[in-house]
Parts: sequence; C-alpha cells; structure tokens
Amino acid sequence: MKIKRSTSKTTSTEIRFVLENESGAIPDFKGKADELTIRYEGNDAILYCGLGNAATCNFSIMRSAAAQAAQMILKLQRKKVSIRFSHLSIATGTVIAGTLLEGFLLGLYRFSKYKSENQITLQTIELVECTLTTKDIRKIQTVTESVFYARDLVNDNASVVTPAYLVKQAQQLSHPGVLSVTVIKDRLLKQKNLNLITTVGQGAPVPPALIILEYRGNKKSTQTTAIVGKGVTFDSGGQNLKPTGSIETMRHDMAGAAAVLGIMKACAVQLPLINVTGIIPAVHNAIGSNAFYPGDVYTSYSGKTVEVWSTDAEGRLILADAVAYCRDQYTPTEIIDLATLTGGVKSALGTLVAGLFSNDDTIAERLFYAGEQTGERLWRFPLYEEYCDSIKGDIGDLRNLSKFKKGYASSIIGAAFIKEFIGDTPWGHIDIAGTAFNEGSSSGITPQYATGFGVRLLLSYLGIS
Ligand code: BES
Ligand code: ZN
Ligand code: ZN
Repeated sequence: MKIKRSTSKTTSTEIRFVLENESGAIPDFKGKADELTIRYEGNDAILYCGLGNAATCNFSIMRSAAAQAAQMILKLQRKKVSIRFSHLSIATGTVIAGTLLEGFLLGLYRFSKYKSENQITLQTIELVECTLTTKDIRKIQTVTESVFYARDLVNDNASVVTPAYLVKQAQQLSHPGVLSVTVIKDRLLKQKNLNLITTVGQGAPVPPALIILEYRGNKKSTQTTAIVGKGVTFDSGGQNLKPTGSIETMRHDMAGAAAVLGIMKACAVQLPLINVTGIIPAVHNAIGSNAFYPGDVYTSYSGKTVEVWSTDAEGRLILADAVAYCRDQYTPTEIIDLATLTGGVKSALGTLVAGLFSNDDTIAERLFYAGEQTGERLWRFPLYEEYCDSIKGDIGDLRNLSKFKKGYASSIIGAAFIKEFIGDTPWGHIDIAGTAFNEGSSSGITPQYATGFGVRLLLSYLGIS
C-alpha cells in the first residue's frame, strides 16, 4: 500500500469527513456518526463520511467512520483513493488526522488467502492537505500492518499455524543486534523442566515449543517489559473434549501469541528506545492416546505440582511454565500476559471489553488508560484471597480448576492460577477470550473473526503508537 501526501486531489474517488453541523450543503445527509453517502460530481465520486456531533465525536467514532469508508472503497473496487482532511474544521490536528488514517487502514483488512477468485485491492492512498508527516504516516502504517499480521495468523488454518509455524514467524522477525530469537523445543523442553508445556503438547501430532523474542532498543536501561502470549494453536479441550459449538473456532486460541508477534514486529520496524521480551508457549492441545490425563498430577517448571482437573484448562498450565521461566531466566521489570483463557470472560464482559487482572495498581491503571486510548478496552476483576485459595490441591500443590461450582468466577480462577507463578513481579493479565475473535459480523474497525486485539493496546502501553 502506497500512501502519499498531496496538496490537491489527483484521483477520481475522494473521501470527505463531515461533522453533523457541517453537512448543510449536502442534501439528505446529516453527517451523523457512521452515516455514509456517495455523491457524483461528473465522473468523480465523493464519499461523505459522517462523524456526528463535534461535542460527542471521539477517537472511536473517528476510527469506526473511517473504517466504514474503507469498506465502501473495497466494495467499489477502487485502486486509488484521495482522503481530504481540509474539509473538516477539527481535522487540523495531526492526532485527529492520524486517528482517521488509522481507522481507514484498519478498515481495509480482508483475509482472502482461501478465496479462489483474485480480489481487487486498493493500491494508493493520497492524503490531501494533511498535516501528518512522513514519519507519522510510517508509524501508523507499522501499527496497522502489525495488527493485520496478527489477524492473519489467527484466521489461518490450525493445520498451517502450528507451533513450528509460530517458531518460523518469530525467526523471521529477528534483526541483528536488536531482536534475537531463542527457541526451546523437543529434548530441551524436557531438559529444562518446562514440564507443563511438554505435558499439554504431548498428545499432538505437532511438537510444542517455547519461543523467546528479545528486543533490546535501549541497552543502557535495565527496564524490560515481558509480554507473554498464549499460543495454543488448536484447543480441542484434550481428553475433556470440547463439544460441537465450542470447538470450531479454537484455532484462535493462539491469539495472544499472534498479538505478541505483532508487537515484536512493530518493534523491529519502528526501533523504539525500549526493551521488550516476547514469550510464546506454543502447543496444540490434542485428544489422542498420548494426550495428558485428567486426574493426574504434573510438576511445573517452578517445582509446584498441579492436579489436572480438566485438560481443557490448558492455557493456565502452559502460561504457568512460561511466566516462571521468563522470571527465572530474564528477570523482567514487569510481565503482561495476553491469553484467550476463559469462556467466562465473554459471559462477563461480552465481545467489546477484555478482562484485566493485576497485582499492581499502577500497571492496571496504565493498561486501562491504554485501553481507553486505543478503544481496545479493559475492565479490571478482583483477585480476592478466597478465590486464590480455591485452587489449592489435595494431593498436589495446586489444581487447575477451583473447588467452586463449575463455571463460577472462572476468569478470576484462571488468573489466580497464573498468579501462583508470578511471585513478586509486577504483572497484568489480559483475558482476551471474548475480544480476540469476532463471530458476529464486522463493525467499524472490528472485522469478522480475528480482531488483532492487544496489538494496538500494548503498543500504546509501551509508548510506540
Ligand atoms: N481456550 C479456552 C477458552 C476460550 C473459550 C477461548 C471461548 C475463546 C473462546 C480455554 O482453554 C478453555 O477451554 N477454558 C475453559 C476453562 C474451564 C475448563 C475452567 C472455559 O473457559 O470453559
Ligand atoms: Zn481449553
Ligand atoms: Zn484454550
């Protein structure tokens, strides 16, 4: 995609953003948020795109309106488009122009790998009378490309996106002197006692791996944020097999891992002056004669033993080893994990908000703020002691389900389990099971299926976007 700036339009398709009180001259168009109309001036198409009232217009409305304009451009099969910024009295600021451009680019996403017919794609965007610098534009493009990259990984087949495929993706992101990649697999996983990762992965036709990506953009600083992403490339539930209705979308159980790869990709391109460690435990949770057993007790990397009460609560098991190993080997300043951990978070918050859990109020507040900024919103849950105590084991140290009634506070229980392995490291856990994969139809910047949730959130948290 080519994006260029221009002082006058040179294409035959133009987008104009309009506020409600500025739409007077366009008959039968009020300029309400998400309202869209096409008018023709000779052969030139003008796409008017409403932003609603100036007093209520916000970044989410801007992104959503621009994304809808993008979808219309795809429908019209245009190869070139001009976006005019001068029409809007509020669009003089680069923040607003940047938000509109970001929304527009995000709205262009399509997953067309498995469409047999070639799709006509937009090739050039011309920004007319726009205050964004080339550097601003480049940054916005990096962010949206990272989101697309994460979405593609989630949308693709589970038979394609295996742990080995995630390893290959990570290796392709490596950048001499800046981003290095370490992979622990096969015998090494066992040698290093990463037993829970080995255990969850042992029933699968494809072997598990622990992937570590170290981005070092500020070698003088001792500050490092570790971002851990659940990488279950397919979650059948294991011996506690998921039923029809739940299993069909489980290729997206690696959405946390995809977000981590997206974030690391943005780092490798943007080269921010920070340090980030990406950690991905990658496994296929399969059913089969080699699969691990409900009822058995397994020893984690940390030494704590775990009674497996459900092989479908596998995310917390691999994350337990990943965070323990991460703390032990890399001593990060803080750990944030992204995981499609529990169906319960969808019941609690729906598909628009992800669950936030933390042992540190500052991290929780900063993550919440990044959510408000990016529209990838978060809501914090409590980690009360009674919940944390409910995962104490009988014959082992811990159990991977609580003693409470099935389904009760399941998202909190999942988080409480990870917390057992976090020690005193400042930590934030984001349960993206409701937000990572949109089974409904597309809406604004949120496409159908993979959303890329977490990439923009954490890039904003890290100060990269
Ligand atoms: N991957 C699932 C959670 C999930 C559900 C993600 C729906 C996306 C959409 C996870 O491994 C799981 O199966 N969780 C169980 C936990 C239960 C056994 C305690 C769940 O949420 O039902
Ligand atoms: Zn599961
Ligand atoms: Zn899972």
